Amino acid sequence: MRQGGSLLRCTLEGRIIVVTSGKGGVGKTTATLNIGAALALERKRVAVIDMDIGLRNLDVVMGLENRIVFTVVDAVKGKCKIKQAAIKDRRIEDLFLIPASQSDNKDVIDPEGVVRLCKQLRREFDYVLMDCPAGIERGFQNAVAPADEAVVICTPEVSSVRDADRVIGLLYSRSITPKLVVNRIVPEMVAKGDMLSHEDIMEVLSIELLGLVPMDDRVVVSTNNGVPLVLEKGSNAGEAFKRIAMRLNGDPDLPIHSSGSPCGSTAIPTSRYRFPKGRRASGRSLLQNSG
Ligand SMILES: Nc1ncnc2c1ncn2[C@@H]1O[C@H](COP(=O)(O)OP(=O)(O)OP(=O)(O)O)[C@@H](O)[C@H]1O
Ligand SMILES: [Mg+2]
Repeated sequence: MRQGGSLLRCTLEGRIIVVTSGKGGVGKTTATLNIGAALALERKRVAVIDMDIGLRNLDVVMGLENRIVFTVVDAVKGKCKIKQAAIKDRRIEDLFLIPASQSDNKDVIDPEGVVRLCKQLRREFDYVLMDCPAGIERGFQNAVAPADEAVVICTPEVSSVRDADRVIGLLYSRSITPKLVVNRIVPEMVAKGDMLSHEDIMEVLSIELLGLVPMDDRVVVSTNNGVPLVLEKGSNAGEAFKRIAMRLNGDPDLPIHSSGSPCGSTAIPTSRYRFPKGRRASGRSLLQNSG
């Protein structure tokens, strides 16, 4: 039974989704917040967890930095209860942030501790989104350990595609089948051949496409104002994140728009963005093998 914004438990076990990339600065935090906010607007109970311990950001982009008392480190170590660490969003009823600590480093918690915490969170929330730090070391391992699913964020740059490919291999080795979001697309550059297209990226990564998000100046404005973009009408990136959330939340066939925006772009037929299951089941790195 849903209990509004309180932290009373709901009936079903929630889904734990890690948002990861390998490369830094590609939009993991932006995606975590906006997908989480969009799901909460659909009346799902959502916790977004900042796993970037030592370099937290999610609190700032949500405008909640002054409300932090306890952190995910405290919750993992049993120094506080979940409801003490989970900060309710100021605007969206069913959205909660569990912040990272700023003073610790990533080694102060271990994957087993995060799995234990997430076992409790599953009973409290419909979705738990883990905002993964860049890299593939301890911070990545902590964020991925409890995940049932993964969203890999990639930008149309060769370095980002290569890092995504590495991370996808690591996710497969943990029996997690990831889905892809290509962020910061500039359709005009793609049309001129100056930027990788999502088709180029999918050819290398060979995973299911979850969504395409255009470059949008309003991302920066919303980040600076501490307001999720999905609350703003008419933002192309905000609309793209809403549609990504809807695809995650049981509407997988919702068409993906090639520019990331429903206006002035072509819808990609579902058959073009869904790869046969098991195609990359080995977790083999296509980039490495192609030399
Ligand atoms: N679609 C977009 N259009 C324009 N700017 C964007 C878009 N997505 C993200 N950004 C900007 O890119 C920068 C990096 O985004 P973000 O912090 O979400 O990345 P990250 O992957 O979480 O980084 P880190 O690896 O450091 O945690 C931010 O300044 C953000 O505002
Ligand atoms: Mg981040």
